[in-house]
This record gives sequence, C-alpha cells and structure tokens, in this order.
Amino acid sequence: MRATEDMLNTLPQGAGQRHSVGLRFAHWVVAVLVLATWPLGLMIGFVKDDVKLDFYLVHESLGFLVLWLMLVRLGIRLTGGAVRLEAPRHEKIAAESVHGLLYLFLILMPVSGFLATNAHGFPLKWFGLFEVWSPIGKTPDIAFTLSAIHEWSAWILLGLFALHLAAALFHHVVRRDATLYRIL
Ligand code: HEM
Ligand code: HEM
Repeated sequence: MRATEDMLNTLPQGAGQRHSVGLRFAHWVVAVLVLATWPLGLMIGFVKDDVKLDFYLVHESLGFLVLWLMLVRLGIRLTGGAVRLEAPRHEKIAAESVHGLLYLFLILMPVSGFLATNAHGFPLKWFGLFEVWSPIGKTPDIAFTLSAIHEWSAWILLGLFALHLAAALFHHVVRRDATLYRIL
C-alpha cells in the first residue's frame, strides 16, 4: 500500500490526464496553420508583383480556416474538453491569461484580415474556389484601420506565442512535468 502511494507520488503532476482528443487535434492543426500563415502574411510585402496575388490567396485561405477551427475549439473548451490545471494560483492565472489571449487573437486575426480585404474591395475567393460572403463590401473609410488592427494583432500574437513556447519548454525541460503530455 505504502509502496503504491510512493510510486504514484513520483508520477508527474497531472499524468494520465490529457485534454480531449478534439482539443488536442485542433491545437496542432491550428498551430501548423498559424506557423504557415504568419510568415506568408509578412512575405506579401516583400515578394515580386507577379506572385503577390498568389501569396494573398494562400495566406487568406489558410488564415480563414483558423477562424472556423477556433470556433469549434472554443465550443469544445466551453463544454468541458480541457483538463483542469492543478497548479499554484499565480501559475494558473498566468497560464489561463495567456491561453485566453491566444484564443482572442486567434479569432481577431482572421476576422480583421477578412474584413480588411473586403473593405479594400478584394473579397476572399477561398483557394480560388468560391467567393466567401462578407457582412461589408468596399468601405475605404475603415479599410486602413482594419489593416492596422490586423498588422498590430499579428505582432501581439507573435509575442504571446513566444511566451507560450517558453512556458511549454520550461515545464518539459526544467520542471519535467506532464504539461506537454496533456496536449500530445
Ligand atoms: C491566423 C490567421 C492570420 C494570421 C496569423 C495573419 C498574419 C498576418 C501577418 C503577419 C501579416 C503581415 C503584417 C505586416 O506586414 O506587418 C498579414 C497581412 C495581411 N493579412 Fe493576414 N493573417 C491571418 C489571417 C488573414 C485572413 C483570414 C485574411 C483575409 C481573408 C488576411 C489578410 C491579410 C492581408 C490583406 C494582409 C496585408 C496587409 C493588410 O492589408 O492588412 N489575413 N497577416
Ligand atoms: C509549436 C509548438 C507548440 C508547443 C510545444 C505547444 C505546447 C502546448 C502545451 C504543452 C499546451 C498544454 C498546456 C496545458 O495543458 O496547461 C498547449 C496548449 C495551448 N496552446 Fe500550444 N503549443 C505549441 C504551439 C501553439 C501555437 C502556435 C498556438 C497558437 C498560436 C498555441 C496555442 C495554445 C492554446 C490556446 C492552448 C490552451 C489549450 C487549448 O485550449 O487548446 N500553441 N500548448
């Protein structure tokens, strides 16, 4: 009995508990999409004119997928798909704040980009297949504000991702706990 208790105590905190399969799947698909969409967006400003439109198309079409995946992910999270964090209060607040902000910016990014391109008068034709309905048409008055929101949000998202990655590495390499396991 004592031996079993000792053994359980040596297991990493939270071991055996993983986020629901839907949440884990959405995490990695969104991660891959964002890690592709972000640099593609930045490159738009630097590539030659003959390929610029292709960069816009791929950037916007991939980025648009993020919006729908994030809405599904939010639904899973709100219906109990995440395991409860067992950590000291301040760590819990830090982790939950960064996760919450990541959700916010992962929704704001595609929404602002989508509205910006429509406001500039270039509706999204998803991978060239069909035109996506938009609540706004060409609206030059707000187009540059929407673009500015999109561009600023991109840098805030990058900062949040850096914090997120640093925390994941800290848990895995320094603390050697089960944090990474929860999302794999
Ligand atoms: C997670 C999704 C997205 C990410 C992470 C993202 C990221 C970026 C980044 C890093 C830039 C370059 C900003 C700069 O030059 O400083 C950019 C530009 C741009 N993105 Fe996105 N983007 C996303 C989704 C979208 C979507 C869905 C659309 C449109 C349907 C879009 C439209 C644009 C446009 C038109 C630009 C050029 C600058 C502008 O006029 O705003 N993006 N994006
Ligand atoms: C590429 C390497 C990445 C690693 C190693 C990683 C690692 C992790 C880990 C270990 C967790 C679980 C945290 C916990 O249960 O307490 C997690 C959750 C999370 N990650 Fe990542 N992540 C990566 C990429 C990303 C990216 C690119 C984003 C978005 C920009 C992101 C957004 C999130 C969010 C919002 C959560 C909260 C759980 C959820 O609702 O899905 N991650 N990540």
